[in-house]
Amino acid sequence: MALERTFAMLKPGVLSRHAVGEIICRIERKGFNIVGLKLMRIARPLAEKHYAEHKAKFFFGELVDYITSGPVIAMVLEGEEAIALLRRLCGSTKPLEASPGTIRGDYAMHTNFNIIHASDSPESARREIGLFFAEEEILDWKDGNDVWI
Ligand SMILES: Nc1ncnc2c1ncn2[C@@H]1O[C@H](COP(=O)(O)OP(=O)(O)O)[C@@H](O)[C@H]1O
Ligand SMILES: [Mg+2]
Repeated sequence: MALERTFAMLKPGVLSRHAVGEIICRIERKGFNIVGLKLMRIARPLAEKHYAEHKAKFFFGELVDYITSGPVIAMVLEGEEAIALLRRLCGSTKPLEASPGTIRGDYAMHTNFNIIHASDSPESARREIGLFFAEEEILDWKDGNDVWI
């Protein structure tokens, strides 16, 4: 299994609902190591770059409006198969299709306010980490659990 890094972002609704701790708790409990974390307000150009693949979609404007509407928590998470695992933990894009027990399945009602972003491939992870984090903002540390699992 490959040790990977992925990018996650708690969308503005998480802060509005005072649920940051709960969501991060699930991510930590799953086993990811947090190697980068910051509270930030995304400027429009960065939001447009981040979601560039959706530029032509009908929801693009609303998506950028929402993601820039308040603070977000940006994170770099590390773990074995971290990219695919985090996507499973988040659940499907549409809350109606996200299984109960997943973050979106448990915390979201509407697709445009689906609580969390997670990179969908190694290329996206690399690109998104680079957009949101400078190299020195990512810490290389080990949790020491290798001896237990
Ligand atoms: N049909 C839609 N209507 C409104 N918003 C959407 C729709 N599809 C996607 N979005 C929003 O755009 C974000 C990015 O879409 P996408 O990359 O397809 O999903 P994911 O976040 O699961 O990778 C979604 O998380 C969601 O907030
Ligand atoms: Mg996506």
